[in-house]
Amino acid sequence: MHRIIVLATVVIVSFGSCSKEQETRKVEREKMGEHGMAVDWKFSLPQGDPNAGRKQFIEVECYKCHEVKGEKFPALAEGEKGVGPELSQMAGMHPPEFFAESIINPNAVIDPDAKKLGHVGEDGKSKMPDYNTVLTVQQVADLASYIASLKGLKPNEHTRH
Ligand code: HEC
Repeated sequence: MHRIIVLATVVIVSFGSCSKEQETRKVEREKMGEHGMAVDWKFSLPQGDPNAGRKQFIEVECYKCHEVKGEKFPALAEGEKGVGPELSQMAGMHPPEFFAESIINPNAVIDPDAKKLGHVGEDGKSKMPDYNTVLTVQQVADLASYIASLKGLKPNEHTRH
């Protein structure tokens, strides 16, 4: 009986992993904290698709506040441009989870120079809206992976998406 349950579990786990590229993290006994949570546990996003993320970036109009050097986004009319940091050098700076946090909780990390840069309002809050009722988790993961892929293209280099 015991053996059957174990086998069934193995089958379910291996079927489950077919559609996902991400590996399940194995927790070593010694590293196990309270309630089976590894002491070095960290939040991980589902796998994102940078091409889908780039499309989202245009669709939900992130480009209205964020320039990405080397990218061609729709032209902005006078007065349409908002304030936000340029994002073309983001690859390697932070993991995708950090970018996801910027999107779902823009106030989590605020640059000490934010006021000087005009990134926050009088209340000290980010001028960036959150997208929690607009984007699905997958779309957030796609956007995060797009941003994490930005390696600082030169202005005359075109992206081949
Ligand atoms: C109204 C303007 C505005 C819009 C629209 C906007 N942002 Fe922002 N964004 C900002 C500002 C201002 C900051 C800097 C303050 C902060 O961290 O929230 C920022 C910060 C960020 C950062 C962190 C950059 C860093 O240096 O760590 C990321 C990533 C980001 N935005 C992505 C996005 C994405 C993706 C979208 C679209 C879903 C978006 N933003 C839409 C204004 C905007």
